[in-house]
Amino acid sequence: MNIDFKKLAHEYGTPLYVYDFDYMREQYRVLKSAFEGSKSLIVYAVKSNSNLSVIQNFAKEGSGADCVSIGEVKRALLAGVNPYKIIFSGVGKSDSEIEEALKLKILMINVESEAELKHVESVAKRLGVEARISIRVNPNVDPKTHPYISTGLHENKFGVDIDIAKRLYIYAKNSNALDPVGIHFHIGSQLTKLEPIAEAAEIIADLVRSLKAIGVDIKFFDVGGGIGVEYHGDEKLIDLEEYATVIKKAIKGMDLTIVCEPGRYLTANGGYLLTKVLYEKQNGDKYFTIVDAAMNDLLRPSLYNAYHKIEPLAKREGESFQRDIVGPICESGDFLAKDIKMPPLESGDLLVVKSAGAYGFTMASNYNTRPRACEVACEGGECRVIRRRENFEDLIEAEKLYLQGE
Ligand code: LLP
Repeated sequence: MNIDFKKLAHEYGTPLYVYDFDYMREQYRVLKSAFEGSKSLIVYAVKSNSNLSVIQNFAKEGSGADCVSIGEVKRALLAGVNPYKIIFSGVGKSDSEIEEALKLKILMINVESEAELKHVESVAKRLGVEARISIRVNPNVDPKTHPYISTGLHENKFGVDIDIAKRLYIYAKNSNALDPVGIHFHIGSQLTKLEPIAEAAEIIADLVRSLKAIGVDIKFFDVGGGIGVEYHGDEKLIDLEEYATVIKKAIKGMDLTIVCEPGRYLTANGGYLLTKVLYEKQNGDKYFTIVDAAMNDLLRPSLYNAYHKIEPLAKREGESFQRDIVGPICESGDFLAKDIKMPPLESGDLLVVKSAGAYGFTMASNYNTRPRACEVACEGGECRVIRRRENFEDLIEAEKLYLQGE
């Protein structure tokens, strides 16, 4: 959809997150249809953008939710996700989170270690219920992505290796408080190569075959998330038909529901961060454009050196030149872009930071006592606020009571 960013900036101020719900919905539909012919469940990875309305937009399409804290589980429920489509993952869940998840009767808890399995079992026993679980298996496959978002190697903290997984499945099968219904792997994020996914899927499918042979009746084959997206615009991405095909091929002959946990694929390119130029500045030979959005609004450039395309809303006359786009935060690491070429800019000009729908607002903070941005959703030609801008009161709410008197 054609979004009138200027009007939105005028109405809601900057920095402003703007989401294109039509785009996000379309992404969901394309992925869902790639799995046609197989039983599939798409569980939106809430961590990529956990605004209630964003989750609701996917829930309306029939999406489930992949959650990594009980807070995310509760968000998903509030947004209307069917509990039987909610998965609770994460490498360290507390007993109280496990207890709440069991009481909420979600689809399954994804267990990441032997110790955690024992905790889930004892909480379930105490509650007198049988916990549906899956086990995250680490297939030791190199996903060839950024080391910070690579998760499927033994050197990463995630999941358990195949031999331990086998033992845990047998243990779970023999426990009357555990029901091992799923298997899970996730080798990393922003994946652009199909081969590592195909390799991991084959390894895990073989494990499922051997488990089924000994009576462990796995029903859900969870391939994780991680489908890469365009940031630069010239990346060669995974073809979704081929993606679905390698997964279907791996599990051929088995009665399994494919579960897929995309986050970024659904949200990244449906989101924009709108920011305003405050000042232009030159230090020696170096030019800086100081804008009103900062690393507290969008952390990815500072944290991963991630690239986000930035475009001025209206181009001024004159030659482009190289500069850094930086925020007002007191850190040298506070930048949105380094050494990019852009035409001349003036105070008050608007810039659009692209591909900001995933891991943008969700990784935002209040560093430097900066209120978090407003979020707006556009859909069918209309835009509406889905989270108001924070104010100073919001920021001090939980502290001000404790100030000591004279
Ligand atoms: N499932 C599991 C088990 C995950 O750990 C993740 C992401 C996903 C699904 C969703 O992955 P996606 O489809 O969004 O790639 N903050 C980083 C990304 C961290 C990803 C963590 N796990 C970034 O800004 O790039």
